[in-house]
Amino acid sequence: MYANVVAFIQKLYKTKGFLPLHEPRFVGNEKKYLNDCIDSTFVSSVGKYVDMLEEQFAKRVGSKYAIATVNGTSALHISLLLADVTQDDEVITQPLTFVATCNAISYIGAKPIFVDVDLDTMGLSPTSLLDFLEANCKVVNNRCVNKTTNKIIKACLPMHTFGHPCKIDEIKEICDTWHIALVEDAAESLGSSYKEKHTGTFGKLGAFSFNGNKIITSGGGGVIVTDNEKLAKRAKHLTTTAKIPHPYEYRHDEIGYNYRMPNLNAALLVAQLEQLDKFVANKRELALKYEAFFKSLPDIDFIKEPKNSQSNYWLQAIIVKDLENRDKFLEYTNSNGIMTRPIWKLMNELEMFKECQCGSLENAKYLEQRVVNISSGVIL
Ligand SMILES: Cc1ncc(COP(=O)(O)O)c(C=O)c1O
Repeated sequence: MYANVVAFIQKLYKTKGFLPLHEPRFVGNEKKYLNDCIDSTFVSSVGKYVDMLEEQFAKRVGSKYAIATVNGTSALHISLLLADVTQDDEVITQPLTFVATCNAISYIGAKPIFVDVDLDTMGLSPTSLLDFLEANCKVVNNRCVNKTTNKIIKACLPMHTFGHPCKIDEIKEICDTWHIALVEDAAESLGSSYKEKHTGTFGKLGAFSFNGNKIITSGGGGVIVTDNEKLAKRAKHLTTTAKIPHPYEYRHDEIGYNYRMPNLNAALLVAQLEQLDKFVANKRELALKYEAFFKSLPDIDFIKEPKNSQSNYWLQAIIVKDLENRDKFLEYTNSNGIMTRPIWKLMNELEMFKECQCGSLENAKYLEQRVVNISSGVIL
């Protein structure tokens, strides 16, 4: 039934062998910088590549500061701590996301609240956010109090799904009105912008991931971005075991985290960052090809970048409108060497989060049942 899809993808990638969803591409200065890093012996958490990465990353996304971390989850964890989220607080996020978004909230002991996504962005819906706040919350002494739980909603953590920016300016405006800190989970959206501003730079803090499946990778790694100097310094301090800088003495002034990105990983990432624009252009071209191809299949809609945005098309995605066909599509493509994958299960349905408060999640449920990721690797 979907032989034409398999044939189309095999032709695109010029392969009849197994095709993973997303492969990293190391076609730049990766080996050169890694060798240099090894030769220097500075392979661990201090070194010139960490500094270079932080500087170049901040410049690329247009934020004042960037702090490298060991992965995206730790970047989220620290960002939430710096947004003053404590174990007694609540954080609004979307149910349609990778589990790390909610794990980071839970590491603090805070509770997620799930609010619906928009169908066109697959990210947190400003309309649903406002509906939830108006129905359930009140502002008392410049704090947003949840009338059901009596807890404070400290932060809102939207995510830019598969690289498609959500309506982040509207979300920011609502957060400002309701005294909620905006932190962005931009793990998937490096290279994506909304109204010509890079994702991850709208909120107080933003977190990125360089996991092996991301648009650029350091094997594992993350970055926190912020325009606030005090927060940036604290982010560096907390991620480096809260050690007071000193040439030889060990002194730590609070409980910190060993969340530093090793120089070795940063070396790889500096080389990858040099190729980001090329990778984004390649993926955007691929999206155009998919869009044209899927027009001929009435049961499938290719998901295009939302209005006002420039997406990195990190993971290409389709909607298989007929539910039965969705499973047939997955079965056929996967058994014919083309890896495809359904979108995540909704977070509010996972055992750990099933007691969490939710708004109406109609759109998230619709998308959860129909969205499938298809081959998305950069075509060399
Ligand atoms: C939406 C989202 N948030 C957070 C993360 C966590 O990043 P990491 O795997 O680098 O910890 C990822 C990716 O893995 C992600 O896709």
